[in-house]
Amino acid sequence: MAEERFARLPAHLAVIMDGNGRWAKKRLLPRTAGHKVGVDTFAEVVGACSDLGIPYLTVYAFSTENWKRDASEVQELLRLMGQGIKRFLPDMHRKNIRLSLLGELERFPEKERAELLACERELSENTGMLLSVCLSYGGRQELVRAFNELLAEGAKAPVTAEDVEKHLYTAGLPDPDLVIRTSGEYRISNFLLWQSAYAEYYFTDVCWPDFKPKELYKALHAYENRSRRFGGA
Ligand code: IPE
Ligand code: IPE
Ligand code: MG
Repeated sequence: MAEERFARLPAHLAVIMDGNGRWAKKRLLPRTAGHKVGVDTFAEVVGACSDLGIPYLTVYAFSTENWKRDASEVQELLRLMGQGIKRFLPDMHRKNIRLSLLGELERFPEKERAELLACERELSENTGMLLSVCLSYGGRQELVRAFNELLAEGAKAPVTAEDVEKHLYTAGLPDPDLVIRTSGEYRISNFLLWQSAYAEYYFTDVCWPDFKPKELYKALHAYENRSRRFGGA
C-alpha cells in the first residue's frame, strides 16, 4: 500500500501522457527513447493508482491524429506499448487490475491487435482497478461512431444523453473526475470530449517519462482542494 494519504481521491482519473519526444530531445536521444521510458512510467503510475485504490484509470496512449507521425515512430510506439503491457501483465494480475482497450483497434496490424486483445482477455476476470488504454482514440471519432451506431440500430428521435453514452467506448464508466496532462501543454487534444464535461484539470511542466508517483501525488493533492460545483450555486 502507498504511504501517501488523501482526503479524497478521484473515482476516475484520466491522464494525457505527453512529452516523450521532448524528454528525449533534451537528452539528445531519438524520440523513441522517450517512448521507451514513457512505457516504464506508465507501468509505475498504473501500479501507484491501483495501490491507492483508485477504481478507474484511463490513459491516452495514441490518438487518431498520431497516425500523422512518421510510420517508423508509430510502429515503434505501438511495439513498445504492446511489449510493455505484456511485460507488466503478471504485475497487473497480482494487483487484480482489469484492462480495457478503447479506440480504433481495427487500424492496428493484426499481430499487435491480437496480442493486445489477448492481454485484455487474460485480465478480464479480475475485479480491481479498471485500466483503460486509449489507442487510436479520438473524442470526435468516438462521438461520430456513437451517432452512427444509433442510426444503424434505428434509434428514434429524440435521442438522449444516456443513449449517446451507451455507445461511447467508455459506456458504463463514470465520467473522469480529474484529467492530468504532462509536458506543459494546456489543451485537450481530442481526449474524452464528452466525458470530461465537468472534469477538473491538472497541468504540469514535467514530461511524461519523469512523471513518477511523487508527481502523481502532487496532482492528487491539488485535486483534494478543488471545489466542484457542476453548475450549481
Ligand atoms: C506522448 O509524447 C506520446 C504520444 C503522444 C503518442 P509525444 O510523442 O507527444 O512527445 P512530445 O509531445 O512530442 O514531446
Ligand atoms: C496527445 O498528445 C495524445 C497522447 C498523449 C496520446 P499529442 O502530443 O498528440 O498532442 P498535441 O499534438 O500536442 O496536441
Ligand atoms: Mg505530444
